Amino acid sequence: MSTTTQTISRLKGQRPIVAVTAYDAPMAGYADAAGVDLILVGDSVGTTQLGFENTVPVTLDMMVHHTAAVSRAKPKALLVADVPFAIAHDDFSVLLNACCRLMQEGGAQAIKIEGDALMAPAVERLTRAGIPVLGHIGLLPQNFHQLGGYRKFGRKKAERERLLTDAVAFEAANCFAVLCEMTDATAAGAIARQLSVPLIGIGSGAECDGQILVTNDMLGLNAGYVPSFVKQYAKLGEDARKAFAAYAEDVRKGKFPS
Ligand code: KIV
Repeated sequence: MSTTTQTISRLKGQRPIVAVTAYDAPMAGYADAAGVDLILVGDSVGTTQLGFENTVPVTLDMMVHHTAAVSRAKPKALLVADVPFAIAHDDFSVLLNACCRLMQEGGAQAIKIEGDALMAPAVERLTRAGIPVLGHIGLLPQNFHQLGGYRKFGRKKAERERLLTDAVAFEAANCFAVLCEMTDATAAGAIARQLSVPLIGIGSGAECDGQILVTNDMLGLNAGYVPSFVKQYAKLGEDARKAFAAYAEDVRKGKFPS
């Protein structure tokens, strides 16, 4: 039976939620076979797969394309797709249309929106239209050009209070869960305790109700920068390099084909 947004919401207080990103059918299949609860087709597809420096250039067409690939793996995990750069700030009809494409063409069961309390009215309208929403607070990578890079959030009192306001507004707007990125662990723990829906953390400490990691980071498939909070469970990039080198040597020495 496939995981629903209600399943994810009900896991709060039962056990930690396990989530990862995926951008193609095979990787989604591996993650699903390992029993993860939630697969996110993140707009991190831009940096992990498409060679962009940040997530700003990722378009809706790209997100639909990769979401559809992941959904063809028919995961039991809940399939969530990111609303890409700026679309959530456009007219509601543009946002609604983007969510419809991610769900109808892409096969997503829910969508994720980066934002703050100001986004709550649009989120509530989406949920009334039958579109489950995962709110995303803390570091918002789509604000890359305003932030001038990535940093930790919630270290100062005013920022902690704002994050709590954002999370509470997302919950009141019917988000089934909230994702909290690069937030001070104490602040994230306080937010998790305040919410009745799960707070899924990334780089936000151990007191969240679940964790999400970018698959390429945790598998060592990332040629560039790997955030310090990431635990690498494999070195697939290095294994691939060695395999290519062995193949090249075999071909050049006439060992393959034998
Ligand atoms: O796009 C993404 O991969 C994300 C991460 C925070 C999980 O949003």
